[in-house]
Amino acid sequence: MFKDNTLENDVILITGGGSGLGLSMAKKFVDLGADIAICGRTEEKLKNATEKLADFGTNVRWYQVDVRDYEKVGEMIRQIVADFRKMTGLVNNAAGNFLSTSEDLSPGGFKTVVDIVLHGSFNCTHHFGNYLIDSESDGNILNIVTTYAEDAGSAFVLPSACGKAGVLAMTRSLAFEWAEYGIRLNAIAPGPFPTEGAWTRLFPDEKFEQQYLNKIPAGRYGEHEELANLAAFLMSDMAPYITGECVTIDGGEKLSGGQFNFIDGMMDRQKLKGMFKMMKEKGKSEK
Ligand code: HXC
Repeated sequence: MFKDNTLENDVILITGGGSGLGLSMAKKFVDLGADIAICGRTEEKLKNATEKLADFGTNVRWYQVDVRDYEKVGEMIRQIVADFRKMTGLVNNAAGNFLSTSEDLSPGGFKTVVDIVLHGSFNCTHHFGNYLIDSESDGNILNIVTTYAEDAGSAFVLPSACGKAGVLAMTRSLAFEWAEYGIRLNAIAPGPFPTEGAWTRLFPDEKFEQQYLNKIPAGRYGEHEELANLAAFLMSDMAPYITGECVTIDGGEKLSGGQFNFIDGMMDRQKLKGMFKMMKEKGKSEK
């Protein structure tokens, strides 16, 4: 699908790019020729990731920055432009999350997650957007949200649900407002993709994990490569007319709310067929 040089003219910042899905996207982007900046809070993670990414032969640099700090984010964007001579793309991937009953949340817990997810994405987007506008350059912003950012929200992850819903609103609002500057904004809503960050905080044990798996029609978790391919497509010149879109990649998990979907878990397919046949025959005999 992609040529090796699909992203060769790009300089892309990935927040939280030192691990998890951020690092997987970074690997895909360098493989397609992009120069990459990654940022995060932990120096060691960033250094290790940069070493791995350097194998692909493009320019890769790391910046130790907490996305919650508006001024520091501004300094980082200016430094990236100085280091790489330009910046063409931003992936707002850094996130925080934990399971909690909402009545027991502390104000600090709520604020921390919303600060990372929503304010962090705003801080990066605002500085990068202004750079693009001032330099009269086109650019691309990709926001990693979740399936519960839209529609239903989700119990037990209230700060994340509120933060991600805000990021999705930002994606669509700015896609319209900044289209005249040649800036595209899109989002990806991933279902469950195993990462250490999410798994240790959101999946307490194997039983819990199995329960979760049962609600995914595809019967498996997502593979990082699958999400990275989608991200590369949206960040590339292959998608110039797509903006303000949120693409779900979840093996059908989001569809589990269908009114009669619960029947699927009640019995196996043969029994189900038998039951439906019986109902049909009963319906006929009552005519
Ligand atoms: C309740 C908690 C908590 C927990 C922290 N807090 N963990 N409250 N339950 N498990 C509260 C603390 O009491 C404190 O509030 C406040 O949050 C800040 O805590 P710190 O530990 O000081 O914050 P910090 O070190 O900055 O950690 C941030 C974090 C942490 C968000 C809490 O989880 C983190 O660093 N996460 C980064 C990686 C991550 O979460 N990845 C998963 C993203 S997955 P008080 O009031 O006491 O000061 C994702 C997609 C979901 O988003 C979809 C998956 C299917």
